[in-house]
Amino acid sequence: MNVLITGGAGFIGSHTADELLKRGHYVKILDILKKPVHMNGFPEYLDKSKIEFIYGDVTDKVTMKYALMDVDVVFHLAAYQDYLPDYSSFSYVNVYSTSLIYEIIEEEKLPVKKVIVASSQAVMGEGKYHNDQGETILPSLRTNRQLSESKWNHLDPKTGLPLIMDLSNESVINPMNPYAMSKYQQEMLAINLGNRIGVPSVAMRFSIVQGSRQSFYNAYSGACRIFCLSYFLDRQPTAYEDGHALRDYVNVHDVVDALLLVMEKDQANGQVYNVGGGKAYTVLDFAKIVAEVFNKGLKPKVPNEYRFGDTRHIFSDITKLQKLGWTPKRSIYDSVIEYKQYLEEQTNIDDILDYSEKHMKNLGVVRRAKS
Ligand SMILES: NC(=O)c1ccc[n+]([C@@H]2O[C@H](COP(=O)([O-])OP(=O)(O)OC[C@H]3O[C@@H](n4cnc5c(N)ncnc54)[C@H](O)[C@@H]3O)[C@@H](O)[C@H]2O)c1
Repeated sequence: MNVLITGGAGFIGSHTADELLKRGHYVKILDILKKPVHMNGFPEYLDKSKIEFIYGDVTDKVTMKYALMDVDVVFHLAAYQDYLPDYSSFSYVNVYSTSLIYEIIEEEKLPVKKVIVASSQAVMGEGKYHNDQGETILPSLRTNRQLSESKWNHLDPKTGLPLIMDLSNESVINPMNPYAMSKYQQEMLAINLGNRIGVPSVAMRFSIVQGSRQSFYNAYSGACRIFCLSYFLDRQPTAYEDGHALRDYVNVHDVVDALLLVMEKDQANGQVYNVGGGKAYTVLDFAKIVAEVFNKGLKPKVPNEYRFGDTRHIFSDITKLQKLGWTPKRSIYDSVIEYKQYLEEQTNIDDILDYSEKHMKNLGVVRRAKS
């Protein structure tokens, strides 16, 4: 099949391209090689002789039209990400580009067989909880006031007692930031617009994805990058809040397996799927695994700092995708080992941690609690 991957030069896209090539598909990539993800231009891990590379922006209609010609399947992975305050860019890049794909397919009567869009666990916001009465609650963002008093857990507004976290399935929708809101809009465009104009589409809600090729410069990326870089550079990492926030992490090769499965299965059409690791870890547990892999004894410092806007706990229910025939096969150790190897192959990385820490401080994201 002829497959277009927007954002195919990036982390998930390039691994997807590799697997598609292995299975004999023709791969086209549309990517603008955006900084700071691509600091050194065209990434060395992509083989230009095996793919068709189109340098361009997913918001440019002429470029997008050109890229969509003679394509059977589209993986729309390019996105505006990170913790950035230019809110309009999230809608502009993520939502506009998704609309454009369907607009062009309809206008040009293109025989595209399937569109698969990258969504995010962020769509579920703070996730699902229940209180001691068994009532389901989708909590809002914790306030700056609450966090500044080191009250990290979600509390029942009626009783003030801590809420109990549940797994969040695809029915949970509570996006809290412009990135998450844009991802939810992408889901709706894919499912509802796809259905309306007869283009089978699937939305994939990824948890935190880990593995090689993940950008070192993405300031808001997860614990893997921060802890691995810290241990690699012999620095003590920082765990925010009390270090007990729960997350689920999924290996990039498991994500690729999931993307290819929904590409092949008709039952996936019109569906949204959580793509998670199936197991939740506290940030400190995760740090322990990284320290073990790097063979370092240094424990993270927990300096009573927090990142305003962070989710307290989130854990995706992956039952729906498991029923389709997928399950995560790689462990969190596999992801960290793979990332470590990738890190060791890099040069000029001393400045990376400073770069992202300064970036976060400048944005006022990291704050210190009073007590
Ligand atoms: N990595 C994760 O943990 C994670 C989690 C949830 C969702 N996602 C989603 O998965 C998708 C892929 O993420 P990733 O981690 O591979 O990111 P990435 O930054 O490594 O790759 C994204 C690619 O898109 C390209 N790009 C960005 N804006 C573009 C534009 N306007 N035109 C053309 N190309 C553009 C970048 O140059 C980059 O190569 C994104 O949609 C992201 O929102 C990722």
